[in-house]
Amino acid sequence: MLTCKRKVMMSKKLHILLLILSLSIFVAKAQKMIGTETDAQKQQRMKWWTDSRFGMFIHWGLYAGAARHEWVKHNEALSNEQYQKYFDEFNPDMFEPQKWAKQAKAAGMKYAVLTSKHHEGFCLFDSKFTDYKATNTQAKRDLIKEYVDAFKAQGMKVGFYYSLLDWHHPDYVMDDIHPLTQKDKSEANYERLNKGRDMAKYRQYMRNQITELLTHYGKIDILWLDFSFPNKKDPKRGKGKDEWGSVELLKLIRKLQPGIIVDNRLNLEEYKDGADFETPEQVSTKELAKYRGKTWETCQTFSGSWGYYRDENTWKTHRQLLDLLITSTSNGGNLILNVGPTGRGEFDYRATNALDSMAYWMHANSKAIYNCTYAPDSYAVPEGTKLTYNAATKKLYVHLFTYPVDGKLTLPGYNGKIKYSELLNDHSEVINKPSTANEGDLIVTLPKKKPLYEIPVIELDLQ
Ligand code: GLC
Repeated sequence: MLTCKRKVMMSKKLHILLLILSLSIFVAKAQKMIGTETDAQKQQRMKWWTDSRFGMFIHWGLYAGAARHEWVKHNEALSNEQYQKYFDEFNPDMFEPQKWAKQAKAAGMKYAVLTSKHHEGFCLFDSKFTDYKATNTQAKRDLIKEYVDAFKAQGMKVGFYYSLLDWHHPDYVMDDIHPLTQKDKSEANYERLNKGRDMAKYRQYMRNQITELLTHYGKIDILWLDFSFPNKKDPKRGKGKDEWGSVELLKLIRKLQPGIIVDNRLNLEEYKDGADFETPEQVSTKELAKYRGKTWETCQTFSGSWGYYRDENTWKTHRQLLDLLITSTSNGGNLILNVGPTGRGEFDYRATNALDSMAYWMHANSKAIYNCTYAPDSYAVPEGTKLTYNAATKKLYVHLFTYPVDGKLTLPGYNGKIKYSELLNDHSEVINKPSTANEGDLIVTLPKKKPLYEIPVIELDLQ
């Protein structure tokens, strides 16, 4: 009996010891730093970005011509030779980035991120280190330069997406994602394909290209590196920080553009400053609540893929897009919405319609998005609504996802907390009165006819 008790006690002690040990490892890990920036300095550096809340992602490359997913080379296991036709045919005769920039700005987006190179390896910019670039296509020019100039001219911040993966480069060694391993994942095939390939040379290629991107186009605000897929069981089948040389790469980036904001896909999770923001991809609005308190941006497509996909018909509705934007803001994060321009270099009619619908809503309601975040806990969320909050102006925004049929909205426990209430779209007063049924509640009387916005917003001036 006694020995049994002792055993239990000993194992409890062991458990506690182990817990303390793993906790201290966790703390040590969390504190590991690449640079020296403090939390306050980081917050300051990122302020324009967190205030913006809304950006435009643009995925554009040779895959726009295939028009069936930017991963087409992987999905169909195509060789460089088989893929070559998309390079030969690339002829964006309608490319006018000034139009893109104007559409983005009208939609209320404050920044843009364009694929300078996607996984296919093709570069939209005039890189000295490859021939696989826009200047050698029928476009005959540096398309990145025109993008940067156009977006800057509209007063927008500019960013580059750069793929760490490269399915065209001759030194890029095989992994489980490479198009050439899709039909045969045997060791023998990897060995055969890897002959003459040298990842160290590819790492240098990336450093060279990132140097070009961060020195030839003036100030660059965001760098969106994509992505890591380390494989613990069989490292040579995946890629992560060691294959990319992530630490050195990040140091280089910060040296070349000290103010730049970098995403979290370099596989540097063990460092406190290994990333500036998290990137939940294509998650549902329900999932966004768990990111509260972090710095994050959810990236979302209008339809299923990132690159132009002609026959993809599952486009998100205006309401779904608005929900993403409002729910991101109401959980303290950003939304970057993606457009995949066509092979001619235009936003197609579906993308244009979606952007126009956002422009219509943002024109009237953007104050409930910019500089906003989640509401203090002391404000309960009224039924059928979501809240956003501007701490600097002390305004609370009630987004009416369900418009009350009788025009009466109950604000639970709000009595005494509100100075004034109005509709945001036209600044027309909506009268609020204490509830007679429930002490502490306020009842707002809204127009019987719902204002012509999918999700109207009430602005509350807080006491
Ligand atoms: C994924 C995909 C890619 C897309 C990106 C955007 O990692 O590989 O096609 O560019 O997400 O978040």
